[in-house]
Amino acid sequence: WPALAPDVEAILRLKRERNAVILAHNYQAPEIFHTVADIVGDSLALAREAITVDADVIVLAGVHFMAETAKLLNPGKTVLIPDMRAGCSLADSITAADIRALRLKYPGVPVVTYVNTSAAVKAESDICCTSGNAADVVRSLGVPRVLMLPDEFLAQNVQVQVPEVEMLTWPGHCEVHERFTPDDIAAVRDSYPGITVIAHPECPPDVVQASDFSGSTAMMMNYVTSKRPSQVVLVTECSMADNIAVANPDIEFIKPCNMCPHMKRMSLPNIRHALETMTHEVTVEPALAERARRAVERMLAVKP
Ligand code: 13P
Ligand code: SF4
Repeated sequence: WPALAPDVEAILRLKRERNAVILAHNYQAPEIFHTVADIVGDSLALAREAITVDADVIVLAGVHFMAETAKLLNPGKTVLIPDMRAGCSLADSITAADIRALRLKYPGVPVVTYVNTSAAVKAESDICCTSGNAADVVRSLGVPRVLMLPDEFLAQNVQVQVPEVEMLTWPGHCEVHERFTPDDIAAVRDSYPGITVIAHPECPPDVVQASDFSGSTAMMMNYVTSKRPSQVVLVTECSMADNIAVANPDIEFIKPCNMCPHMKRMSLPNIRHALETMTHEVTVEPALAERARRAVERMLAVKP
């Protein structure tokens, strides 16, 4: 990416000057993922790594809930997000008041919330989960019923893995993954016989059931780089295939994929601007942060 070299050089210099690290989600574009990011990963890895970061400043190249999670786990560090508008349809689908109403309706049923939620929602929850550990988190509770919020499809997909626990859920969806259909999978299998199909668990259950493997973005990457299929479709955000393809030219990545408009708000120019101006700082009110942190830390303590 020669045209982007001045931004990359400026970011590398600013990271040293500010004692900053860049945490980037797997959905970031290759020119971010492969150049300026210090730590890349799925939501679970970013939450885990956020605890161990030895820096004064964390720049989160991802979406707002990820920056909030990093802040919850690092109250003493400055956490920046290059564009405050980087939201998430799942995080927007449920409020803290919704959780309180559900607790009244289902007294005693533990609330498991996906990390794709606001700090206010996490603060009302018993425990968080990600797509990488949802089944383990549910099993760890040892109860017959859980409220698994707010991703209806993730809950339905985890229900297949953990049939012994009844999942009550909520009609929240990822706007990127809900658009895939079983017909997309059938069409790609017709055109590319023998292709490997990998779907993110935020996809509808009939899409996941039509695929060969399903897992978090990190699990998808591990599957591809260890099994090395000659042709594969990653039923998820488009940058995933682009990022793996950079180091694996022998693997052919077939469409469809969808773009996440929120993840794509991150760019080298706005990461540079964030470090130059130390904006936009993500803060969480300390009492709320304390309650939200409990749910995240409880999740991090669950053994796979
Ligand atoms: P994971 O990286 O945890 O699989 O999450 C995907 C996602 O959509 C994050 O917004
Ligand atoms: Fe949210 Fe979906 Fe975008 Fe992830 S891909 S940030 S779940 S809208």
